[in-house]
Amino acid sequence: MTERSCLSIILAAGEGTRMKSASPKVLHRVAGLPLVAHVARAAVAAGSGDIALVLGRGAEEVAKVVAPIAAKADTFLQEQRLGTAHAVRAARDAIARGYDDVLILFGDTPLVDAGDLIAARRKLAEGAAVVVMGFRTDNPTGYGRLIEDKGELVAIREEYEASETERRIGFCNGGLMAVDGAHLLDLIEAIGNDNAKKEYYLPDIVEVARGRGLNAVAIEAEFETLLGINTRVELAEAEAIWQRRRRRELMLSGVTMIDPSSVTLSHDTVIGAETVIEPNVYFAPGVSVAGGATIRAFSHLEGATVGPNCEVGPFARLRPGADLAEKAKVGNFCEVKKAKVGAGAKINHLSYIGDAVIGPKANIGAGTITCNYDGFNKFVTEIGAGAFIGSNSALVAPVRIGDGAYVASGSVIVESVPDDALAFGRARQRTLPDRGRQLRERLADQAKK
Ligand code: UD1
Ligand code: MG
Repeated sequence: MTERSCLSIILAAGEGTRMKSASPKVLHRVAGLPLVAHVARAAVAAGSGDIALVLGRGAEEVAKVVAPIAAKADTFLQEQRLGTAHAVRAARDAIARGYDDVLILFGDTPLVDAGDLIAARRKLAEGAAVVVMGFRTDNPTGYGRLIEDKGELVAIREEYEASETERRIGFCNGGLMAVDGAHLLDLIEAIGNDNAKKEYYLPDIVEVARGRGLNAVAIEAEFETLLGINTRVELAEAEAIWQRRRRRELMLSGVTMIDPSSVTLSHDTVIGAETVIEPNVYFAPGVSVAGGATIRAFSHLEGATVGPNCEVGPFARLRPGADLAEKAKVGNFCEVKKAKVGAGAKINHLSYIGDAVIGPKANIGAGTITCNYDGFNKFVTEIGAGAFIGSNSALVAPVRIGDGAYVASGSVIVESVPDDALAFGRARQRTLPDRGRQLRERLADQAKK
């Protein structure tokens, strides 16, 4: 099938008013990725690198999101919204380049399955001119019904035009289609707007095709995969479905989740086998966790790389550029940003490590802070292999702590410390015998007066 060329037209000119949002509906995100990008990815996965976007407002922003996914992405403005067939016509110039297959997709159905698109293309290869993606439901109210006869699709009847018997049909139009590229322009131009709303309906393509002696068929997809997003409630439903599926895949690939429903993943989260994820962990985009790691409860990770057998959390925050080598540990209430943490190094309690390079097996004491920012610029802290940073130390960057060096607890380190040196960056303690008792008695006397 790969030798058949394919264009995907993604319809996304809808106003999306029910989202109550300043940004275009298709830029809202599921799993951290815009809805339209999910659709574009499915198209590409189904062998359709060329994408035509039909857009209304926010065209530039939407195009920017799709461009890196597609081999070729063109945008077409649909100035007036006169229906789904009218929207397809807006992409006329792309269709006219000549493709074997054309997929017509909606920008607001992010769960569309590439496997279903491939199945639809296969039907085209077998000779169908129009393939409609349908779903079955016990509650078909509101959807167009698929009228079949002897395995062929005869018509799509919108709810308000359907007869009593037709309304009882539970096989509904999911909206997405695959159409023979050689016929599409002709078919789409022939669709009229002789209906109550005076709109050009894409579903009418079935009857137009049959009128020309062409064959139309319906294939069945899961309802979930055709879920269209109109409100933020539906957005959350799609998110929940996406999360459930992805968690399942990860668990089946060898990741343990104690309470899967409390783990949030992103579209690009990578987690290796034998990793354990405790409850309430959030993976923002850009995270990769190698095998055998433990991510403890209430940790938040974004743009971070976690090496094999690392331990993170509970209550850890890994920000972009956190890069933990094998067996490193980042414990409770620690924040790590843009820092390489060497193999077996430990940052166990209450620390901020930013713009830093930490050598293997270094031990960062509780409350250590890298002072990386002077209000204008950021500076780097280097901590050598096996170095020991005493608790509650402030390392004022730029500064280097050498391999095997010690920093005394409570130090403010402003000068680099050579390898194997011991640095005190605080006043020496004075202890005065009996002076505690004297002070107490004086204070007590004063209080009596
Ligand atoms: C459509 C189908 C219906 C099907 C349902 C499944 C039509 C006429 N009806 O209805 O049979 O059961 O999907 O969800 O197709 N769009 C444009 N320009 C337009 C109109 C729409 O770009 O002029 C885009 C929208 O942004 C959206 C998509 O096309 O992404 C679908 O339009 P929508 O209005 O949601 O169609 P439905 O009423 O859901
Ligand atoms: Mg819709």
